[in-house]
Amino acid sequence: MAEEAILGYLEHNEQIADSGVFAAERQLDHNDVVNVIKSLHGFRYVDAQNIKRETWVLTDEGRKYAAEGSPEFQLFMAVPQEGSISKDELQKKLDPAVFKIGCSQAGKNRWVEMGKQVSRKVQNVEDKVRVLLLHVQEGHEIKQEDINSLKARKLIVLQTWKGYSVTKGPNYAPQRKKVATDLTRENLQRGDWKELEFKEYNFNAKGQPAEGGHLHPLLKVRKQLKDIFLQLGFEEMPTNNYVESSFWNFDALFQPQQHPARDSHDTFFLQEPSTTRELPEDYVERVKRVHEVGGYGSRGYGYDWKREEANKNLLRTHTTAVSSRMLKALAEKPFAPKRYFSIDRVFRNEAVDRTHLAEFHQIEGLICDRGLTLGDLIGVLKDFFTRLGMSQLRFKPAYNPYTEPSMEIFSYHEGLGKWVEIGNSGMFRPEMLLPMGFPEDVRVVAWGLSLERPTMILYGFNNIRDLFGHKVDLGLIKENPICRLGLE
Ligand code: PHE
Repeated sequence: MAEEAILGYLEHNEQIADSGVFAAERQLDHNDVVNVIKSLHGFRYVDAQNIKRETWVLTDEGRKYAAEGSPEFQLFMAVPQEGSISKDELQKKLDPAVFKIGCSQAGKNRWVEMGKQVSRKVQNVEDKVRVLLLHVQEGHEIKQEDINSLKARKLIVLQTWKGYSVTKGPNYAPQRKKVATDLTRENLQRGDWKELEFKEYNFNAKGQPAEGGHLHPLLKVRKQLKDIFLQLGFEEMPTNNYVESSFWNFDALFQPQQHPARDSHDTFFLQEPSTTRELPEDYVERVKRVHEVGGYGSRGYGYDWKREEANKNLLRTHTTAVSSRMLKALAEKPFAPKRYFSIDRVFRNEAVDRTHLAEFHQIEGLICDRGLTLGDLIGVLKDFFTRLGMSQLRFKPAYNPYTEPSMEIFSYHEGLGKWVEIGNSGMFRPEMLLPMGFPEDVRVVAWGLSLERPTMILYGFNNIRDLFGHKVDLGLIKENPICRLGLE
């Protein structure tokens, strides 16, 4: 309908000056007319120029009064011609909003006498408000003072009206030719492809949104952390084994076999295969000795070290298990300093709550060199965390079975206005390093933190289950922004 009207009109006329007027004159919906113009313009049947106009339109309330009469008029009509009506009685006859507004407006207009009893002061009134509203609705001009009063009563608002002026385009024809958008199998079979006219490509059309893959926030933060470690000259450790033996996860780290963390309440042990197949025997012997009687200046723990305990397979409880394997391998070669890091998953048999899961990710860094001191550890931590955007650090003495001294790391959180714990660190003990075979003056400084903590802070999660696990909203993964650490 609209298409025929537009093309037909242009056959005998220079232009459609205003699509709004054009639509109104033909009683067409202006939206339909606009859509047809856009489509005809796409095929260059017509040229179209934007036109914009500010017009007054009725609000919902305005539309209601245009249909039912203004509240003051409704109120006036509810008052009897002769005598009076009690205010309560009158209220019952009207909608509460209409009653309230009607009372004040009809009072102002001196249409009614308001008291306990309400009576008419005049016999006839004209509902001017309604007349004005109908004018606006039909697109007629009204006086500025009337506009002001309707606007003040929020019965009309200014709206930007958008339309087009239209002239013939380079491909103008009084009727649109059907063009093919696709070459089908049927076209080929029937042979009618030879006669078909194909639609041109519209290179300006917006394409389909590309449904690519999306990185999970944890992966984005991990990538940033990895870049920081690489910039600082660290090499990544191979952490692609979730299953570990108790030996590498605990014993090699000088963690005694009675340590509570080695209980099944804290650690997931494997049923199948329940034990490791092989361990480096001579090293196992040295580890057993250092646990039982010490050596290298240590008294050891003085208990009966059991091989069966060390053999038990588990889901690694920290990535430090991998660090211990890597350090042992390093100690076997002629000594060269190293910087290692890893970011991977660990498992703990813990009750799940809003900040804990039974699996999470650890970030771990270590530096191995001759003569390192606690000052070196503090220095590298400052360097590392500053790059994450945390430059205010504090350290608190702590305890780990495998480090001495050990320090918890705190950072001042601007948002929370307090110091929050962000990691754990220390210097690996001689009881761990010397049985591996390192020269005596070799020290290892190391630290660890969770990947989830900074990710939750950066992305504003307060429940870890929204970040990781089966309840994660995929839409959120598609929409979350890239991660830029250290940039405020
Ligand atoms: N493994 C420690 C943890 O699980 C982190 C850590 C790593 C502490 C290295 C000291 C040195 O919390």
